[in-house]
Amino acid sequence: MQADLGAGAGRLPALVIANATVFDGSAAPRFAADVAIDGDRIQALGRPGSLRGSATIDASGLALAPGFIDVHTHDDRMLVDGGGMEPKVSQGVTTVVAGNCGISLAGLSGRGRPPQPLDLLDPAGDWFRFPTFRAYFEAFEQHPAATNAAFLAGHSTLRIAAMDDPGRAASPAECRRMCAAIDEAMEAGAIGLSTGTFYPPAAAAPTAELIELSRRLTAGGGLYVTHMRNEAEAILPAIDETLEIGRACGIGVVISHHKVAGLANHGRSVETLARIADAMQRQPVALDCYPYDASSTVLSASRLAMSSRVQVAWSTPHPECAGRDLARIAADWGVSAEVAVQRLQPAGAIYFMMDEADVQRILAFPETMVGSDGLPHDASPHPRLWGTFPRVLGHYSRDLGLFPLEVAVHKMTGLPAHRFGLHGRGVVEAGAFADLVLFDPATVADTATFEAPVQPAAGIRAVLVNGTPVWRDGQATGARPGRVLRRGARP
Ligand code: ZN
Ligand code: CU
Repeated sequence: MQADLGAGAGRLPALVIANATVFDGSAAPRFAADVAIDGDRIQALGRPGSLRGSATIDASGLALAPGFIDVHTHDDRMLVDGGGMEPKVSQGVTTVVAGNCGISLAGLSGRGRPPQPLDLLDPAGDWFRFPTFRAYFEAFEQHPAATNAAFLAGHSTLRIAAMDDPGRAASPAECRRMCAAIDEAMEAGAIGLSTGTFYPPAAAAPTAELIELSRRLTAGGGLYVTHMRNEAEAILPAIDETLEIGRACGIGVVISHHKVAGLANHGRSVETLARIADAMQRQPVALDCYPYDASSTVLSASRLAMSSRVQVAWSTPHPECAGRDLARIAADWGVSAEVAVQRLQPAGAIYFMMDEADVQRILAFPETMVGSDGLPHDASPHPRLWGTFPRVLGHYSRDLGLFPLEVAVHKMTGLPAHRFGLHGRGVVEAGAFADLVLFDPATVADTATFEAPVQPAAGIRAVLVNGTPVWRDGQATGARPGRVLRRGARP
């Protein structure tokens, strides 16, 4: 901790958060301190009661942590479509990583209605209007969002842009087009490539194609971030493919929303985590998860058999079905679940298909980061969109005692900042960016449920992005201080 700012230090800092219990993001034990903020930075830390500022927030009894980093989002459109980011700032999130699961908004334009799963960002396709990452970043910076954001280039998006038929391996010419697009994204400041080989636009891509494209990341230290080909019975080969790509290209890999899906595979996180822990001895591997036993993506009949229950999240022809159980809809219509799925398309759904013991084992794994995978444009979204971070802090850390609060905060701050190369973020220390969240550790909780999913969290008192308050006492302030966090940018 730094020495106190004496009276001789000159001009007062703009804001002092006084008497806070600081969780500095490193998983080190909490400590009591005053924190002074000036401009976009943390200016100093001092003994409780020692710092003076032009304004003061009394944080007695409250926790002060680095702003949370949501490492797995589909916020590409929300960031440039108003940019208020209420589902995120209400939880204490100050930075999001967008462009996940092979889906980026940038890199495709003028193709009309996009195929699944690109339609999760925009069923109509009007927002696919950024042919390059440079164009998208310019749009963001002309009208910034409330949070910071780092971006991945989406392999499925690039495939749709480069190929007339994505149902096969890319030709050499198509690979060259995608490589050029990845080069453009990385030069503009993207932090890596995401893939979603689980989904049809990329499922036909062989490992060789993924390696050829990922080699474009090697020179700049980009990350390979993946929604793997299989998260069910063939999950171990899918993990091995991910590891092979990382080794072949000499790059770090991130396994997105790690889970083991399907009743028959419950309990197998014991095997997957052992495989991942073993690989970590030899190569850089990271992973994230969301704290729920239900997943959410496009509605597809192929997932019915592995789910105990399916809830519709949105449907273009039947918007009245959002939030309802598929089984009830099918019964009302007097048809099978498969026929109901067809009638609802295009649509999204929530699938109850995981084992709570797996969820807890994965979340508690020391290297696991927190990512919401929230879908901000769904009519009745999975509650992870509004509840992920307070659920880890409140339900899993405080109420179930899965890990100490210091560890919970680390999983959503210092750990992801390190893994994603977000310099000057994810820590509370002098000189770091003033991305901060003040919360009440006794009451912090997710209030969003599967029945009522659009609900701000409880216990989040104040959220600052680059020194500017974006959330105060249950309300967005309307400020938009967010920045594009470019690969390699130093504070
Ligand atoms: Zn995914
Ligand atoms: Cu995702």
